[in-house]
Amino acid sequence: MRRLPAAMRQGKRAAVETTGSTKPARKRSKSDVKQEETKITTLPSTYHTFHDANEVVHVRSQLLDWYDEGKRELPWRSVAMTEPDINIRTYAVWVSEIMLQQTQVATVIDYYNRWMKKWPTVQDLAAATLEEVNQMWAGLGYYSRGKRLHEGAQKVVSELNGEMPRTVESLLKQLPGVGRYTAGAIGSIALGQVTGAVDGNVVRVLCRMRAIGADSTSPAVVEALWTLANRLVDPGRPGDFNQAMMELGARVCTPKAALCCQCPVQSHCHSYRKVHIKQEENAKKLLGKLDRMPSTLPDIEDCTGSGTCALCPAEPWDEELGVHNFPRKPAKKAPRVERTLTCVVVRPGQGGEEEYLLTQRPNKGLLAGMWEFPSLLLEEENSVMKQKGALCAEVSRVLGAQLDKSLLQHIGEVVHIFSHIHQTYVVYGVSLKDGRSRGETARWLSGPSLQEAAVSTGVKKILKLYDSAGSQEEQTSKDGKQKKPSGVKNEKKPQISKKAKVKRAANDGSSRQLSLSTFFKTLKEEH
Ligand code: ADE
Repeated sequence: MRRLPAAMRQGKRAAVETTGSTKPARKRSKSDVKQEETKITTLPSTYHTFHDANEVVHVRSQLLDWYDEGKRELPWRSVAMTEPDINIRTYAVWVSEIMLQQTQVATVIDYYNRWMKKWPTVQDLAAATLEEVNQMWAGLGYYSRGKRLHEGAQKVVSELNGEMPRTVESLLKQLPGVGRYTAGAIGSIALGQVTGAVDGNVVRVLCRMRAIGADSTSPAVVEALWTLANRLVDPGRPGDFNQAMMELGARVCTPKAALCCQCPVQSHCHSYRKVHIKQEENAKKLLGKLDRMPSTLPDIEDCTGSGTCALCPAEPWDEELGVHNFPRKPAKKAPRVERTLTCVVVRPGQGGEEEYLLTQRPNKGLLAGMWEFPSLLLEEENSVMKQKGALCAEVSRVLGAQLDKSLLQHIGEVVHIFSHIHQTYVVYGVSLKDGRSRGETARWLSGPSLQEAAVSTGVKKILKLYDSAGSQEEQTSKDGKQKKPSGVKNEKKPQISKKAKVKRAANDGSSRQLSLSTFFKTLKEEH
């Protein structure tokens, strides 16, 4: 891979360390003095910092050597290193960082390649529709990220003359969805700005290296971690350094099974030292030698501010956890529990295959602009019958014709976890002989088109349940016995209602497909 000259990649450097104030001196008030005193007492002890300049130099070179030897070749890294156009480079790294915000590297690669092929410049993305963006994003989760990229691209084109921001500050200010971490990552990787970038992986590496065991989301710890990252970042290769820190966190300094023996900066890690001193002490205790033989490991300094230090853990070191004592996070907030009624409405399509009725969500909020089966959030206080009636009314609204609720067959339930919502879809199905839809926000799609469309993973799970209920029914009708649907490996089997009797358009003549007009005729008989 051809690498751009460093000067070309770096652009203008950001001032990370604050220099002296340019404001004229004024008399210090009592509150100024008090603020300074507070600052002094809350400054982290040297135990939690990199106060030794030599150590900083070593950490940088050991980490970068390790990165150069074995880093993963990732598409956005190639672009960052070889793309000479600063606008394209910044755009490409921005896309990668947004995709990587809540998604694993391995999953992102394919999405990233397809995205960059379709929209190689910020202008191309700005010209796309939100629907195309949602379609491309389908399956990646956290859909607001794609929407924000799209909004950001339109802003760059319409308000910034098509030029991507060129500094960390302007990235932060101008681009929706870009916070401190993302701005630092884009600034250092694409623009060569000398700034740290603290993501979850880097939090873990730094907390372990400097034995920071207080809640890693507390303001004191967050600030301390940014200070450490800004201190450590290599001024000659800031982007590579930040990516090396992330890579170390992802591949070596992992959450549950850290590979300390492979760590290039092991000798700078307080947590690792702590583990080994304890182990040596325990071995000596076993041999009854503790009082006679001094430790061969250098004595570890401890935090001088223990007891009052805002970075030290509240709980004691747990020997069984080893380096995994750090970082410590507060307990996660329980997700909101929701139940949603949803109805899979099918009709025979032109080519004989089934078509599914889909509606578009509003352009704001959760899953903005995505397509889904007609749905309704369940309200606890209403009875099942009332809820089913409301779902039927929703389906009728979308179809533009009144159905009776008895025609909606219960299929089963599907659970889908969003970041903050534990969603259970209560799935119903109805098979029509024909059917129309009303308005721009409703559509009939064939199975393959639905798989390609801007639909969430939740919708695909619902479809799978519906299909497996159909194939179960087919099996039952063939041999008289109920057989399990052929499930997909590594996926929890959906719960299928025993009552599920959805007749499929593809079924033989015994299946009961109803035209809208027949619906009304059969209403009475159904009761
Ligand atoms: N996570 C976030 N940014 C990354 C990058 N540039 N490389 C690997 N993992 C990342």
